[in-house]
Amino acid sequence: MADETISPDAGSWRRKDLLDTDTLSREEIALVLKTAEAMAEVRSRPMPKVATLRGITVVTLFYEQSTRTRASFEVAGKAMGADVVNLTASGSSVEKGESLVDTVRTLEAIGADIIVMRHSKSGAPALAARTTKARVVNGGDGQHAHPTQALLDVFTMQQHLGDLAGKRVVIVGDILHSRVARSNLWALMALGADVTLTGPATLLPQTLVGASEAGRCRTTTDFDAAIEGADVVMALRIQKERQATGLIPSLRDYIRGYQLNETRLARAKPGALVMHPGPKNEGIEVAPSVAAGAASVIDEQVANGVAVRMAVLYLMAGRAA
Ligand code: CP
Repeated sequence: MADETISPDAGSWRRKDLLDTDTLSREEIALVLKTAEAMAEVRSRPMPKVATLRGITVVTLFYEQSTRTRASFEVAGKAMGADVVNLTASGSSVEKGESLVDTVRTLEAIGADIIVMRHSKSGAPALAARTTKARVVNGGDGQHAHPTQALLDVFTMQQHLGDLAGKRVVIVGDILHSRVARSNLWALMALGADVTLTGPATLLPQTLVGASEAGRCRTTTDFDAAIEGADVVMALRIQKERQATGLIPSLRDYIRGYQLNETRLARAKPGALVMHPGPKNEGIEVAPSVAAGAASVIDEQVANGVAVRMAVLYLMAGRAA
């Protein structure tokens, strides 16, 4: 039975799985964001729980480390009365060599309705989705996609900026290896934002098929020029192994060219938002004073992760029809 206070039109969600934002229409993204607004209202209540997903079993299946995604899916599921089972590769039969397909089929046999999966290999959640009747939500796969991160990011932007059409969003860092950058790019383009991806040439993709052609995405190595007049600046984590593999000469060089610091932020539009998906390396991709400054909405991103993941679970569970 749907909770009429949550989202009266949520029955229009038609997808079995949520694997990326690249195939989501503007209307589907708007539905998630509208549902998340209702979920944020639930979270603000003195008793921030509803029983909408009672009887639904959500399994978080994480083959890779996570703090925010895993914890917020668990909180989200429990806030709506779902049974939530948390599995990591460590301590499960994966350690004995069980395949992904067998693991997913086992979870289905146990009664999983929704499987939230993180995996280091791009495409693993898609394989799982083809394997099971359970609904599969991608909680981050390799360098491919992180759809719920992108949805919570655009939700946070929309809370501050309203309609994102024409807004200028700069994403800086290791774009080449970033599933967050990719999923954000698709979601932001669907909502009409102008996106600039910037970083060292070695960390920028040569092409982003379908993005540049649409005319609302560009790539540049010149962060100082890109940030001029930006409405949003999102810094990505620099993985220290990028230096070991020779993709950046040194962290000191990276900081000089690409750290989001106060001097650079002053070039953005007054009131511009500072974002970071986390986990962050303060002092490398973002100066501590900027991460903790008035423009930062990093903590709001984390908090919004619960409301957005409640919305995703709610829509995926099909309880609204
Ligand atoms: N942003 C993000 O996915 O964080 P976790 O790795 O902590 O889940």
